[in-house]
Amino acid sequence: MRIIKTTDALYKTIQFLKKKQKKLGLVPTMGNLHKGHIKLILLAKKYADIVIVSIFVNPMQFDNLLDLKKYPQTFIEDCLVLKNEKVDILFAPKISEIYPDGLKMHTYIQVPKLSKIIEGKSRPGHFIGVTTIIGKLFNLIQPNFSFFGEKDYQQLLIVKTFVKELNYPIKIISLPTIRLKNGLAFSSRNKYLTNIELQKASFLYKIIRKTINIILKNNGKKLHQTINLAKMSLIQKGFLVDIFNVYNSQTLDDFSEKNKKNIILASVWLGSTRLIDNKKFTLLN
Ligand code: PAF
Repeated sequence: MRIIKTTDALYKTIQFLKKKQKKLGLVPTMGNLHKGHIKLILLAKKYADIVIVSIFVNPMQFDNLLDLKKYPQTFIEDCLVLKNEKVDILFAPKISEIYPDGLKMHTYIQVPKLSKIIEGKSRPGHFIGVTTIIGKLFNLIQPNFSFFGEKDYQQLLIVKTFVKELNYPIKIISLPTIRLKNGLAFSSRNKYLTNIELQKASFLYKIIRKTINIILKNNGKKLHQTINLAKMSLIQKGFLVDIFNVYNSQTLDDFSEKNKKNIILASVWLGSTRLIDNKKFTLLN
């Protein structure tokens, strides 16, 4: 595996690979790799000749300095994982390489409507940071395909939107959330959880599933009541609920009984750890 740390070296390598007409697949990450990332890499191998993984803890997408400082950084272990998976290139730039003029940039990528609702409301500026770094990585690497997990569902929709609207010639491929046996979604943030919290955290997905079963049984009626009950169950289990609601899974508009394709999006706190999860469902008639 080749480790590239500078944009100059990356540029030369990409030019070379493009001349050889190689199909490039990018898996963008912030490191602290887990099974979810590995599944994305395996998927990338099915599509691309050359698989590139980026590791960059992007300061621009953190709305809170403490959260950025404590974000788990495990570069050596991550390199071993990537070598094991026979990844071709790891792009791991320093902050100064990506933001040579600092973070007070004048040029951003923003998907205004989708970035300001739901999680964007709780974490102002977060999605502008995400779309800007992904746009930069797309410009630097010019991948044919890029791979994202469905756990970050709002992020995925936002990326798909800017890729389409800004005409990036890149196919965005998503992978369903990878879970532990008890249902807990793999996430780098699970590292912060104590053993007891790890057990408790699995209730989030259980409550999402139970809520969907009730919504389906009621055929979308009494939604407000059902959501409130779910929130109460979460609070009883020790979660602090930031977001738990039903949205149109294609537009992220608020729930309407007329809309069949829906999703529950959840963002909760367990102690000092923020956990997100989601599940789609379809109302039948
Ligand atoms: O989902 C993530 O890990 C990050 O938001 C991403 C896509 C790597 C951008 O920094």
